[in-house]
Amino acid sequence: MQYTLTSQALNQVKVDCLVLGVIDDKKLPHHGQLLDKSTNRYLSHLLQYDNFSQGERRTLMFYQVPGCQAKRVLLIHFGSSEKLDDMNYVKYLQQGLNYLRTLHIESVAIAVEDLPVKERTADWQIGQIFQALANTTYQFTIHKTKTASSPLKKIIFLGQVTQGQLRYGRALVQAIQFAKDLGNQPGNICTPSYLAAEANKLARQYPTVKTRIYHEKQLEALGMGAFLSVARGSDTPAKLIILEYQGARQQRAAPYALIGKGVTFDSGGISLKAGAAMDEMKFDMMGGASVLATLQAVAELKLNLNLVVAIPATENMPNGKATKPGDIVKSMSGQTIEILNTDAEGRLILCDALTWIQRQYRPRCIIDVATLTGAITIALGKFLTGAFTNNQALLNQLTTAAQESHDKIWQLPLLDIYQNALKSNFADMANVGDRSAGSITAACFLARFIENETPWIHLDIAGTAWESGEAKGATGRPVPLLLRFLMNQTTSK
Ligand code: BES
Ligand code: ZN
Ligand code: MN
Repeated sequence: MQYTLTSQALNQVKVDCLVLGVIDDKKLPHHGQLLDKSTNRYLSHLLQYDNFSQGERRTLMFYQVPGCQAKRVLLIHFGSSEKLDDMNYVKYLQQGLNYLRTLHIESVAIAVEDLPVKERTADWQIGQIFQALANTTYQFTIHKTKTASSPLKKIIFLGQVTQGQLRYGRALVQAIQFAKDLGNQPGNICTPSYLAAEANKLARQYPTVKTRIYHEKQLEALGMGAFLSVARGSDTPAKLIILEYQGARQQRAAPYALIGKGVTFDSGGISLKAGAAMDEMKFDMMGGASVLATLQAVAELKLNLNLVVAIPATENMPNGKATKPGDIVKSMSGQTIEILNTDAEGRLILCDALTWIQRQYRPRCIIDVATLTGAITIALGKFLTGAFTNNQALLNQLTTAAQESHDKIWQLPLLDIYQNALKSNFADMANVGDRSAGSITAACFLARFIENETPWIHLDIAGTAWESGEAKGATGRPVPLLLRFLMNQTTSK
């Protein structure tokens, strides 16, 4: 997809479809003035005959608008300006742009970034247009032998968009779609070795990126007994994938660290999952995919910071060698763990990655991203990512980034009292508590592996990383959140 800017007048742009926003009593907003008077009058007149500001249908298409070079004009109604907040803006924008999918067209021009959205700037609106476009234009058809792909090739921005915003938008869309591709690939293709190969590809593409892949023998030498206990039941070898991005002007500046859970298929192991929707456990590597994709965007944008990414990647499978409930393993930190449920595998691979990254890099902060618990969907549903921290100031910064990217998070408590659930009669801790507060006790487990009060955030994306049902597929979250957070770090220093 090609994204470009133009300073042409709206009437003059020769495209298959021109997209304009409408608010209130069918008024074309500011950019309406960019249309010539007769076109504006014509559209405003036509709008009097249609009620599309109410109800569910918020789009209206006009063909052969006099004075307009575009073949069609798509109007998206954003409702009344009184009610136009970020939630409504994004909802109508996505609905409107999804309409483009039904058209067999090659080029689109867009001017909907100048609306009076409450508490949100035009800059924010441009970011949302890119995110909505990333969703609208995304296709995953490589395994379909008979599907023709959409001919849409060109998206042109009109109005106040800058080159910087365009660069950011392109990098963001590319990263979101990269993460989605990795997630949508089935478990028989997207294995730990496949993820490692994708990481190595990035290193070849960007001179600022280096990779190191640790194989099982090396993980053993490092003492990663918790991580390896998950890999034991699988015939597919586990990998610890490390990527380093060097972009800070001060070369030796302490890096930001991102850790992503990379379980390429989670059957539950000996604590086998029920059959319904088990296919969706191919998405159990979306934490890994999202941190890999974020690093790609960071390298693409040459951000002025250092970043290290770690992805412990493995399948979780049952076989004769698999870890059994009751087995005790020793983590790299030295702490022992009684594995009461082999389906609580995410925390077992993350804890060793946490220990390793802290000892290797002394990072300035760590964010881990994981499809960790089904319980987070019970608590927060599929809109908000759950966030836990040992450092409120850091989480406040991430919350700002969440507002700015519309990739939203909600804080849950990390209180010591919940640690009681992890008590074991036989080892330093158990890997699960009972059913209550499942997401919190999972975070409590990880907290035991943070050393020297390193500022740390745990993101539980089990509810937000993919859609189920008819729209089944990876969402690419929390790539927008992580990229915005890292970009903010380079401007506020
Ligand atoms: N990958 C799952 C979490 C998950 C489950 C995400 C369902 C999305 C939908 C994780 O490894 C897991 O199985 N967690 C268990 C933990 C439990 C055994 C304490 C869960 O949530 O059931
Ligand atoms: Zn899992
Ligand atoms: Mn599991």
